[in-house]
Amino acid sequence: MRLVRLMKVFVTRRIPPEGSAALARAADCEVEQWDSDEPIPTEDLERGVAGAHGLLCLLSDRIDKKLLDTAGASLKVISTMSAGVDHLALDEIKKRGIRVGYTPDVLTDTTAELAVSLLLTTCRRLPEAIEEVKTGGWTSWKPLWMCGYGLTHSTVGIVGLGRIGQAIARRLKPFGVQRFLYTGRQPRPQEAAEFQAEFVSIPQLASESDFVVVACSLTPATKGLCNKDFFQRMKKMAVFVNISRGEVVDQDDLYQALASGQIAAAGLDVTTPEPLPTNHPLLTLKNCVILPHIGSATHRTRNIMSLLAANNLLAGLRGEPMPSELKL
Ligand code: NDP
Ligand code: DGY
Repeated sequence: MRLVRLMKVFVTRRIPPEGSAALARAADCEVEQWDSDEPIPTEDLERGVAGAHGLLCLLSDRIDKKLLDTAGASLKVISTMSAGVDHLALDEIKKRGIRVGYTPDVLTDTTAELAVSLLLTTCRRLPEAIEEVKTGGWTSWKPLWMCGYGLTHSTVGIVGLGRIGQAIARRLKPFGVQRFLYTGRQPRPQEAAEFQAEFVSIPQLASESDFVVVACSLTPATKGLCNKDFFQRMKKMAVFVNISRGEVVDQDDLYQALASGQIAAAGLDVTTPEPLPTNHPLLTLKNCVILPHIGSATHRTRNIMSLLAANNLLAGLRGEPMPSELKL
C-alpha cells in the first residue's frame, strides 16, 4: 500500500457551495476552514495558516510578511476569492516563490451592473426620494423638487479602463453619453475605440467629466488619487462614483467636497475602513450613497468566484496551470 501525504489547505471563511464542494472532492487535500460568515480573528488565521500548503482567502484577509513568516516554507499557493489583490504583500509572496490565484473576469459584468445601478441611484437621488415618500415629504408634484442629473448628452470620465471600466462604459453608452474620457498608466487605443474614449490626464478628467467613475486597481500610485485637488477641479454639478477600493479616495476631502457643494453627489461601493463606522460623517450627507461592497454580490457570480478560487488553489498545489493565475 502506498501512503499519500495529504496537502494541508486552510480556508479563511465559509464560501459558496460550488467552491466548498470542489475542495471537499479533492482527495489529496486535508481542508480546514474558518466555519463562519464573519472574518477570522488574526490569532486563528495565524494558527490555521501555520504549516499549510495552500491558503484560500478573501479580500478582507491581510496577507502580509508576518503572516507569511507564520505560514512557513510549506506555503506554496495563495488563492484569493477576489479580482483585487491589494490585500496581498505581492513582493514578499514573489520572494518566497508562492503562486497566486485570483478571480477576475467572472465578476466583471456583475460589478459593472452594480456600478451603473449606483451611478443612477446617486445622480437621480433615489434614496432621498424614497425617504421623502415614507416621511410625508411628498406633498405634491413640484417642478423644482427632487431634481438630479441625467446621463443624456453627458461626459463620463473613467479612471481605469480595465475589464470593469470597459464593461461600465459599454452599459452607459446606450444612455446617450456624448463623450467618454479615461485615464490610466498609458493609453489603451484598442479598448477605447469601442467608446471613442479619449485618453486624458487625471486633472483633465476631473475638470471635464459630468460623471467620474473610479474602476482602477489600488496600488501605491492610485492610493489617495481622488483628493482635494481632484475634487476642486470637478464641476459643481458632477457626480463621483467609486467601485474600486476605498483607499483610492481621500474620504476627508470627499466629505468637504460634498458638504460644501463643491460637487453634486457621490456613490461609493467601497470605503475606508470596511465596514464604515455608522457614525462616519459621510453617512450624515444626503448627497452621498454608500453601499457595503456588493459589486460582485449575485448568487451566481459568488458561486463562480468560489469555484474558480478552489480550482486555482488545487491546480497550484498539484503543480498544474491555474485557470486564473496572477503573474508575479
Ligand atoms: P483590471 O486590471 O482589468 O483594471 C485595472 C485598471 O486600473 C486598469 O484599467 C489600469 O489601467 C488601472 N490603473 C492601474 N494603475 C493606474 C493608475 N496609476 N492610474 C489610473 N489607472 C490605473 O482590473 P478589473 O477591471 O478587473 O478590476 C479593477 C478593480 O476593481 C480591482 O482591482 C478591484 O479593486 C475592484 N473591484 C471591485 C469590486 C467591487 O465589488 N466593488 C469587484 C471587482 C473588482 P492601465 O493598465 O491602463 O494603467
Ligand atoms: C474583488 O473581487 O476585488 C471585489 O472587491 C469583490 O468581489
